[in-house]
Amino acid sequence: MALCRRHGDRGDCVSPARLTAFAPGRVNLIGEHTDYNDGLSLPFAIQPGVRVAAEPRDVHDVVARALDRGEEVSVPLSGNLRRGDGWADFVRGAVGELEAAGFELRGAQLEISADVPDGAGLSSSAALEVALCLALLAIADIPEPDDRVALAQMCSRVENNWVGAHTGLLDQLASLLGQAEHALRIDFRTLEVRPVPLRTGAWSLVTVPSGERHSLAASGYNERRHECERARAELGLDSLREACLDDLDRLPGPLDRRVRHVIEENARVDATVEALERRDLAAVGSLLDASHASLRDLYDCSTEAVEQTVARLAQGGAAGARMMGGGFGGHVLALLPPDARLPHDARPVAAAAGARLLGSE
Ligand code: GLA
Repeated sequence: MALCRRHGDRGDCVSPARLTAFAPGRVNLIGEHTDYNDGLSLPFAIQPGVRVAAEPRDVHDVVARALDRGEEVSVPLSGNLRRGDGWADFVRGAVGELEAAGFELRGAQLEISADVPDGAGLSSSAALEVALCLALLAIADIPEPDDRVALAQMCSRVENNWVGAHTGLLDQLASLLGQAEHALRIDFRTLEVRPVPLRTGAWSLVTVPSGERHSLAASGYNERRHECERARAELGLDSLREACLDDLDRLPGPLDRRVRHVIEENARVDATVEALERRDLAAVGSLLDASHASLRDLYDCSTEAVEQTVARLAQGGAAGARMMGGGFGGHVLALLPPDARLPHDARPVAAAAGARLLGSE
C-alpha cells in the first residue's frame, strides 16, 4: 500500500498502489428498445466483462492501454477535452464526465482487457465505461458514490456525449446493479429496479454469434430513437410509456409500427416476469420469439445473418430465440429445453454479480 496525502488536515489516507475494477457485460432477456421510451426491460449481468487495472501516476494525466489492440492513449486531467475517434473516446469521456461531475481525479496508468466480445450486443461498451469510471474513482481514493443509478447515468453520458450513440440506461444499470441468479426488472420511468430470480433448472440460456458485428453509433439505432421521439411529440405525450394501441391510427408509417413494438414489448416484459415466477419456461421461449418477430417486423432492426441464426436455432429445437440489444447484427439469445442439443457455437450464459473492485495490492 502507498500513502496518499490528498486529504490534508483530515490526515493521511491509504491509497492502493494498484487495483482492478471489473464491470460485466449483460444479456437482455427481453424488453428491447424500451429503455429510452420510459418502458420496461429484464436484463441480467453476465460473467464476461471488462477489467481495468489502475496504478497511480505522478504526471497529471491518464494513460490508458488497450491490451488486445496494443494501443495507448494519453488524456490530460483538468484539460479542455474534445471528442476524438475510436476507443480512446471512452477514456476521454470517462475523465470528462467524472470531472464535470466534480470529482478530483489523479494521474493514473490504466490497462484495459476484456473477455466480452465487442459488436455482439452484450454491452462491451457499457462494461468499459463502468470499469473505467470505477477504476478512476478508486485510484484517486474517492469513495464510490452510494447511488449506483446516478453512476449509471454518468456512464451513459460517456456513451451519449463522447461515443455518439444515443443509448438509454439499460446496459449501464445492468452492469452496475447485476445480481447472481437474478434478472433485473427495470422500470425506466421510475428507475425502480427489482431483482427477479432467474431459475432455469435444466433449461439453458445461450448466446450464438450471428457472424455479423453491430455498432450502435453506426447502425440505425439513433434513427430509431429519433423516430420514437417524433411519435411521442406527434401524440403529445411525455413518453411512449403512456401510448396505447388506440393511438396508432394517429401516426404515419413507420412510426405506428415503432410505437406498437414499444407498447407490446413492455407488456412482454411483465408477462416474462410472471412466466419466470411460475417457472413456465416454455412460455418464456414463446415470449422471446414474439419479441424477435416484433423487432424484425415492426422495429425493422434485424439482418439476414441474424434471421438465419434465429432460424437455425429454432430448427435445432430452441424454445425461443431472438436478437439482443440494439439489433442490426450481433449475437442471438436462445432458450434451450433440457433435451435440446447445444449448437457448436453456443455459449451458455448465467446471471452474475455486478461491477466491483477486484481487490488491491
Ligand atoms: C442498446 C442500448 C440500450 C438499449 C438497447 C435496446 O443495448 O445501449 O440502451 O436501448 O440497445 O434495447
